[in-house]
Amino acid sequence: MKRLSLFLTVSLIAVTVFSQNAIRVGDDGKSWTIATRSTAYQLSIVNDEVRMVSYGNKRLMENAGRPLGAEIPVRGGFVNSTPLLEAVFPDGVRDIETVYQSYEIINADGYQTLKIIQCDKFYPWEVISFIKVLPEYDLIEKWVEIRNTGKKGGIKVENLLSGSIFLPKDAYELTHYQGVWGFEFTPYTTKLTPGVKTIQVKDFKSYGSSSFLVRPEGENDPYCGKVWFGSIKYSGNWRLDFDKSFNGTLQVVGGMNFWDQDLNLKPGSSFTTPSIVFGYTEKGTEGVTHCLTSYIREKLLPSSHRDKIRPVLYNSWYATTFNVNEEHQLALAKVAKEIGVEMFVIDDGWFKGRVNDKAGLGDWTVDTNKFPNGLQPMIEKINALGLDFGIWIEPEMVNPNSDLYRAHPDWVFHFPNRQRHEGRNQLILNLAREDVYQYLYQSFHKLLKENNIKFIKWDMNKQMTDPGFPSAPADEQRAVRIRYMENLYRLNETLRKEFPEVWFENCSSGGGRIDMAMNSRYDFNWASDNTDPVERIFIQDSYLTLFPANTMISWVTHEDWHRQHHPLEFKFDVCMAGVLGVGYDITKWTEAEKDVAKEKIARYKEIRKTVQTGTPYRLVSPHENNRSVLQFVNKEQSESIVFVYNLGEYPNNSFSENRRSALVQLRGLQPEAKYTFEGLEGTYSGDYLMKTGVEIPLRGAFKSRIFKIKVP
Ligand code: DGJ
Repeated sequence: MKRLSLFLTVSLIAVTVFSQNAIRVGDDGKSWTIATRSTAYQLSIVNDEVRMVSYGNKRLMENAGRPLGAEIPVRGGFVNSTPLLEAVFPDGVRDIETVYQSYEIINADGYQTLKIIQCDKFYPWEVISFIKVLPEYDLIEKWVEIRNTGKKGGIKVENLLSGSIFLPKDAYELTHYQGVWGFEFTPYTTKLTPGVKTIQVKDFKSYGSSSFLVRPEGENDPYCGKVWFGSIKYSGNWRLDFDKSFNGTLQVVGGMNFWDQDLNLKPGSSFTTPSIVFGYTEKGTEGVTHCLTSYIREKLLPSSHRDKIRPVLYNSWYATTFNVNEEHQLALAKVAKEIGVEMFVIDDGWFKGRVNDKAGLGDWTVDTNKFPNGLQPMIEKINALGLDFGIWIEPEMVNPNSDLYRAHPDWVFHFPNRQRHEGRNQLILNLAREDVYQYLYQSFHKLLKENNIKFIKWDMNKQMTDPGFPSAPADEQRAVRIRYMENLYRLNETLRKEFPEVWFENCSSGGGRIDMAMNSRYDFNWASDNTDPVERIFIQDSYLTLFPANTMISWVTHEDWHRQHHPLEFKFDVCMAGVLGVGYDITKWTEAEKDVAKEKIARYKEIRKTVQTGTPYRLVSPHENNRSVLQFVNKEQSESIVFVYNLGEYPNNSFSENRRSALVQLRGLQPEAKYTFEGLEGTYSGDYLMKTGVEIPLRGAFKSRIFKIKVP
């Protein structure tokens, strides 16, 4: 008995130490355990090398075995893993040999962070690795800094990723998200057989994501099972390698993509990579969603707007495309106000020469043919209606048919003697150049200063071509993508700082550039140009797996990609699972259509707090069923909103999908509490709703309903 109580005391102390100190240093000062709420990551020094020992369930860490691999795998020595770091020293030596030097526990944005310094055995340079612990989200974040501490000679960095982890011997499968324009974030699951599976973007655009899930093969339960997951916090070219060795271990390593890229580290200079976020859960895909989306919503989104309820938007793009003018926009704004919109946004077409996509980009002054009085007098009228005003911009691009390009043809990415490849009749401005940065900064500073703009939709529509910077020194030329991204972030951050009340939406021909780095700088994402409600159900299902609902703008539009003529009610219900917007030419709406919109927008305002800030649950996947069911539960677990979208309707038992039980089990409620369920008689315990479930009262293909479940 005495022994037992002693044991209990000791383990209690251990637990307390863990929760207070996310980073625990071994007695020998040569090992570290990094603990989150449920996970632990272990490192130790073996023969002067920093090695990763294990990563997984915190309770099972005691018996961790031999180290699985180097914390910073380098090109040098044995070639049994994928290097995170490859460099060439001034004398041509390209083999790296680092030794452990020292460690420090620092504070990064309020979180304990382990900083480990390694030095080269011979050459004057340091490799510093960082592991930040986000205990409440079961996440760790890794990044690397390299320093040339020498007095002469540059070090050529040929590859430098952000972080690597090794998983124990097992059979694994990978889920990742890829897509094309209009079909963003399609999930793919594949076995990781021996060899290397790479997912990468050489461009600045991708319609997928660097977010990934790795789990033991065949463990597909959505709510439980081990998953290692992560995402790269970077919006440029990125790469992830899943290196499965013949002995069974798996290395996951990722960061910037050094394809056609290098860095010259001059004496005395340093470079820090973007970070890669890793997580581990035993709660299946749902666990991944909860770790990632709550981290983004509670910590990553720009702090000025993080806790604000998102407004209902109107956007002019599908209504008017480039054909915008003051009179019609004011007419749209009037109806927008009438139906309950709060933010009126003019999309493309408002600036000089922009009659179609062949001209105008780069000349960021108002087109006085369309807005003879300028923007501000019209904005005042829109404000007088009681609406805030927003506008579309595409800073990073230029049309050759523009005053800017005529004056500065050398300001775009290009190579001498080579074609300048246009996409949508535009070229990419070389934002790595300081003069380009300054021009863009001045243009948008002026636009925001002179006009009462409260919302910016920041678009980016061309794929990467011709990444040449001919006037840069030869040894800087291949760093052009890195410098571009640095200035892109700087431009956004500077404007946000100067105009803190402005909301920013991230767009790249739909969802072409959505990632955690953008999430830390923009309040919203435009998930896709595909606003067909059925297609959208699939895109939104993936989006909401990885990103929070309060970042996902969805507009109700007349777009009908499959000519199904879906009812307005169905379209609204789909868009209400995120941040609701409207994109029709609403001046043409009948009174009946306006009434539907009024009712739906009023309903959205009543449920949006739970949708935007609640915990998301994907109850029924449209990929596996003839319907999709989403649920959001508020923090207090006193209110839940359930979205049901019927896709196909088939005779009972006609095929495997509808041989399953029609009952839907809810999640995330308080078992003991009694809830009312809109549309159903009586009250139900949380336990009943979660274990037995309810048959949702909804019939018919392409029908939808939104239910509120609450503690009365
Ligand atoms: C692409 C975006 O995805 C659309 O929403 C719209 O803003 C157009 N660009 C405007 O050119």
